[in-house]
Amino acid sequence: MASFKALLKEQVLLPIIQADTAEQGVAIAGAMQQAGIHLVEVVLRTEASIAALQAIKAAYPQMVVGAGTVTNADILKTAIAAGADFIITPAVSPNLLSQLRDCPVPVVPGVSNSADVLLAVEHGFTELKLFPATLSGGAAFIKAMGAVFPQVTFCPTGGISDKNKDEFLSLPNCVAVGGSWVAPTSWVAEASWDKITSACQVANTPAAG
Ligand code: 3PG
Repeated sequence: MASFKALLKEQVLLPIIQADTAEQGVAIAGAMQQAGIHLVEVVLRTEASIAALQAIKAAYPQMVVGAGTVTNADILKTAIAAGADFIITPAVSPNLLSQLRDCPVPVVPGVSNSADVLLAVEHGFTELKLFPATLSGGAAFIKAMGAVFPQVTFCPTGGISDKNKDEFLSLPNCVAVGGSWVAPTSWVAEASWDKITSACQVANTPAAG
């Protein structure tokens, strides 16, 4: 199975799509694609999220479309049936990690402390999300984990913006930064697709050095 990093390729932004309708999801994804984004996460937090995920895959067959906010086996099953190309969770538990073990697509479990990291590693996962990143130690936490879990890489989300993304991206064990700041609900509500494209272009620029 491909790793999450292999799906990301050179992309360093994991843009989050939260859509109230399938059409809105397609418009957001289209604006992101204009910025050269080929991989997105649809968070399963609205009634229309699964329809949005399916519609994005139909409209942009080359796009890699993951499902986020996966917190139990039922949501996991629904996301996989809808064609999710990868799975992201906001947190971990022994039960959820067991359910995720046989997942047919890459999984990025969400951790918020070192005990979570150990638990995820014990279940065989080494590509982790740090969430909520800025409240859970931020870049300093990821740096510290590099010393004790050298096999683990992180994709932090939660509180990331253009102001702090480079602190994370300059770390060798941080593969990407994720977030909703590139497509806030206010821009989506006013159909400011150009703003989403511009924000994704800026955010997907790797840290210098
Ligand atoms: C997530 O699901 O990862 C978070 O909602 C992203 O957090 P943000 O909205 O602060 O970017």
